[in-house]
Amino acid sequence: MTQQHSVIAPAQTPAKAQRSDRRGDWWRDAVIYQVYPRSFADSNGDGMGDLEGVRARLPYLRDLGIDAVWLSPFYASPQADAGYDVADYRAVDPMFGNLLDADALIRDAHGLGLRIIVDLVPNHSSDQHEWFKRALGEGPGSPLRERYHFRPGKGEHGELPPNDWESIFGGPAWTRVTEPDGSAGEWYLHLFAPEQPDFNWEHPAVGDEFRSILRFWLDIGVDGFRIDVAHGLVKAEGLPDLGSHDQLKLLGNDVMPFFDQDGVHDVYRQWRTVLDEYAGERIFVAEAWTPTVERTANYVRPDELHQAFNFQYLSTDWDAEELRTVVDRTLEAMRPVGAPATWVLSNHDVTRHATRFANPPGLGTQIRTAGDRELGLRRARAATLLMLALPGSAYVYQGEELGLPDVVDLPDEVRQDPAYFRGAGQDGFRDGCRVPIPWTRDGSSYGFGSAGSWLPQPDGWGELSIEAQTGTPGSTLELYRSALAARRTQPDLGAGDSVEWLRAPEGVLAFRRGEFVCVANTSGESVTTSAYGRLLLASGEVTEADGEAKLPADTTVWWTTTP
Ligand code: NOJ
Repeated sequence: MTQQHSVIAPAQTPAKAQRSDRRGDWWRDAVIYQVYPRSFADSNGDGMGDLEGVRARLPYLRDLGIDAVWLSPFYASPQADAGYDVADYRAVDPMFGNLLDADALIRDAHGLGLRIIVDLVPNHSSDQHEWFKRALGEGPGSPLRERYHFRPGKGEHGELPPNDWESIFGGPAWTRVTEPDGSAGEWYLHLFAPEQPDFNWEHPAVGDEFRSILRFWLDIGVDGFRIDVAHGLVKAEGLPDLGSHDQLKLLGNDVMPFFDQDGVHDVYRQWRTVLDEYAGERIFVAEAWTPTVERTANYVRPDELHQAFNFQYLSTDWDAEELRTVVDRTLEAMRPVGAPATWVLSNHDVTRHATRFANPPGLGTQIRTAGDRELGLRRARAATLLMLALPGSAYVYQGEELGLPDVVDLPDEVRQDPAYFRGAGQDGFRDGCRVPIPWTRDGSSYGFGSAGSWLPQPDGWGELSIEAQTGTPGSTLELYRSALAARRTQPDLGAGDSVEWLRAPEGVLAFRRGEFVCVANTSGESVTTSAYGRLLLASGEVTEADGEAKLPADTTVWWTTTP
């Protein structure tokens, strides 16, 4: 008998899907949803998302079936890099609300069974941070300058930067200051924008300050921290030249004198002791771009951080063989340190995966063309089901549950990403994944807020909205809901640290995990495989007959062998 399965299994009711326990190791298989506050929901009609907007939409996130929310920075900041330039680590920027709003958000989230992870930016501050302003104002010899990397320039008149490092956003990683007497003076290091001076982590005051900041937010009740540029805090002694004019090529492929230095691990060992003083199994997740998953594993040794983003996975094309390699390497690398693998497909720094997969492979994570949108969405849905079937924790970036593409045609005059303006940086097109998300079919800014949005939303955005997709069979939102609900009811999903690969046709990944089987067809054609049991969920139309299943191109299927 031939059976045509509907794409989506019925979604669980939230009450049933909700985990009732507060498990100590909740983070090992948690699905963590990234909220980019300025683009999530605007409660006060200023065109900019805010904390109250997030608080009001927490029930949506609870119903989606996630475990925790990671909030990108909402601290007091001149916003030179969308809040990753922090002027006061203990204050909320008025554009996002105030500390009471943060407190209310955390409390409400906890009431709904959601955890809150906040972003911590320890590699650099804003140039408007009190320490840096004083360092500049007090002139050469100021003790505050020792908390950053100030150096005299090279050349006869100090007119050349102290070394050859480049900013990740393009241009030199050094800026020369004008001293209080008006003379051209020392240079300071900034691995990112000039408005983001790097801290000197050799100085004890820096470590003391950050341990105090950790306590400040832990006391308020956060469940953890996402550590920005976790691999950058410690620089090689003497700030040696890189000696290469092709820094971009080396980045991510090599240990750099400013990235992934072994000394960073001392910092995290100290931080771990602070965190462990607090009840409730709170966690750290590292944003650590390292050359290999093996080096990433160093950040999650038992006395350091809990998780690290798997950027190798994020950077992998939709290709069975490559995916299998990165999955195997990740699991092998994490097993000896006992940390869960993590999986991520999108975030606020890369082109959304629905657009990456709409383009030919090999283009990296910053893509400027829309590509074939239908193909991209089909693959994105299949890639999501594959990701959510792997053992470990997964990260979901706001809007990917709607299948949102990147907005690739933003006019230059609305762009805000500093990397865009600094030219040849590794980033530069990040505004396209930061466009405020659509909540409603129509109305002002598609329900984002009552008065437009800080980046223009494209026509047709409302068709992708939460309103348009809720309850719509086959919608991407319902696919995510069903998948996340299944992770709660199928014990083999997410748990453990290994997969058992099954024999599969070329271009197809098939693996078993206990009573659960996942098959992902990355080939451009339909394939026939065994029907491994009771079909739980599929990202496209699957047909089953006589113990076999026909999977269309770019489709992932979940089966359970339990009746
Ligand atoms: C990584 C953050 O994700 C990115 O948005 C930011 O620009 C850099 N770190 C600098 O803080």
